Amino acid sequence: MIQTGPRKPLLRAFAGETLPLPPWWLMRQAGRYLPEYRQVRAKAHDFIELCLTPALAAELTLQPIRRYGMDGAILFSDILMLPHALGQKLAYHEREGPVLERIEDTAGIARLAPDRIASSLEPVFETVRRVRDALDSRTTLIGFAGAPWTVATYMVEGSGSRDFRRVKNWAYRDPGAFNSLIDLLSAATVEYLAGQIEAGAEVVQLFDSWAGVLPEPAFARWVIEPTRSIVAALKRRFVNCPVIGFPRAAGVLHERYLRETGVDGISLDTTVPPGYANQHLQPHGTVQGNLDPVLLIVGGAALEEEVRRLRQMLCTGPYIFNLGHGVLPETSPDNVQTLARLLAVPLDA
Ligand code: CP3
Repeated sequence: MIQTGPRKPLLRAFAGETLPLPPWWLMRQAGRYLPEYRQVRAKAHDFIELCLTPALAAELTLQPIRRYGMDGAILFSDILMLPHALGQKLAYHEREGPVLERIEDTAGIARLAPDRIASSLEPVFETVRRVRDALDSRTTLIGFAGAPWTVATYMVEGSGSRDFRRVKNWAYRDPGAFNSLIDLLSAATVEYLAGQIEAGAEVVQLFDSWAGVLPEPAFARWVIEPTRSIVAALKRRFVNCPVIGFPRAAGVLHERYLRETGVDGISLDTTVPPGYANQHLQPHGTVQGNLDPVLLIVGGAALEEEVRRLRQMLCTGPYIFNLGHGVLPETSPDNVQTLARLLAVPLDA
């Protein structure tokens, strides 16, 4: 019988294949570093409108693919579209980032409207359909959501945070009540990601940007457990759709996360040594990462050397090249082109 596994390079990496040229994409590959992004952004009333207007969001998803031909196109949206869909007030301010009306107690949770998700997020599903129609046969469409812990940090702190004292205070003081928020977010996230997969997303990534601020028992309860339940629910409905987890800054807990959550792949922040990842993580799943985004600003020999080092350490197992965090706004588009060229040739050529 002829073997007919997936043909798209990104999906082959998830099927466990070791590829001489690593498939690649970049977190925040659509964004302010691209002049064509800034042009579309200037025309929209605000960032939320950009995310919820399918014609604009589809165009922004495709911009980096047209320029660089990444193997993965990540849906243009934001992790905070979920609290927005649940009815929480949200605004993005120019320099401060997102600001939300804080949820402080059980009454705040009760005001959320999970029954609105499907209709509020329909524009996102429409974006996914349009992008999938526009992509060629070798580019994989990646959907995403924030993981419950990270989304909860924004919902409870009301913005980004340095020390997470409000959300941790609630989680430690009254874990039962806090758990009802996490449970609500887990169910909402399953519905949100299922909608994206049904619309055409072929892989989904769970961003847990603030996973690394918790001690181990809290990490097990608020990071591993909700992720495990989301992955299990998705696997019941979509057996073949790979899930990537990004428990940023999880340090020595990466291995536990990978083994216990059921994710197919793990995205690594810049601090995880690739040798460690090769030895302890690649035996259990596909590894994605983890070039320092600042090297993409710097470019030149420093960039080239580090790309080579990552490939040498990680290309012996299932590997997807990416950054350790998102592309920074001051990145030169030319350096991304250089990266694309470096990744298109075998290491010893
Ligand atoms: O990766 C992509 O290209 C897809 C789109 C995407 C965005 N945000 C677009 C965006 C994705 C996958 C995200 C994820 C996201 N959003 C995360 C997890 C990853 C991470 O960065 O840790 C988080 C924590 C958010 C929440 C968020 N959205 C913040 C804190 C900010 C403000 C900081 C900033 O960079 O401006 C945003 C805004 C945002 N999300 C922008 C983009 C392109 C910038 C908006 C603008 O043009 O002004």
